[in-house]
Amino acid sequence: MKRLAIFASGAGTNFEAIATACRRKEIDAEVVLMVCDRPAAKVVERAKLLDIPTFVFSPSSYAAKADYEREIIAQLDAAKVDLVCLAGYMRIISPVLLAAYNHRIINIHPSLLPAFRGANAVEQAIEYGVKVFGITIHWVDESLDGGKIIAQEAFAYEGNDAAEVHRIGQAIEHRLYPETIKKILNE
Ligand code: GAR
Repeated sequence: MKRLAIFASGAGTNFEAIATACRRKEIDAEVVLMVCDRPAAKVVERAKLLDIPTFVFSPSSYAAKADYEREIIAQLDAAKVDLVCLAGYMRIISPVLLAAYNHRIINIHPSLLPAFRGANAVEQAIEYGVKVFGITIHWVDESLDGGKIIAQEAFAYEGNDAAEVHRIGQAIEHRLYPETIKKILNE
């Protein structure tokens, strides 16, 4: 059975979708660690309810990103993690963590990459007037949302209600992320 770590900064609905898929044996894996950079985030509560170990930290209590990433690496190593899944983790991974977990980190992003990288992707897309939105899952490298694409799913939407686009997109994410993790682990 493979061992997953999920990184999140916010609500954690993708974290929960992946953890639940593992518990239901839809994926032959176990979520062994949840890493969060915001102690007040809802995902921390979700991890507690699911009884999943966490590493929760405040970046401001470290002198540099490399310092907290070294701690993250120690936690990942101790938990013998095979694959890291970023799920709404709103920080750029530095070369320190990338080097330690090379080709073992994936991310989900709420746009059809390479369009609309970075924060507020849905809002950027609405501002641009796009009619086809989407979700991308990709390998993480040193570029911002630029690693090789693993899976994508598009949906048509006309309008400017960002909350509605988020709702449609998240429903896709909660299915696509577990499915994609399963495929990667079977390769
Ligand atoms: C997800 O919709 C994910 O696509 C997005 O954050 C959300 C987290 O939701 N990620 C990014 O914008 C990355 N740039 P969740 O905490 O409920 O899983």
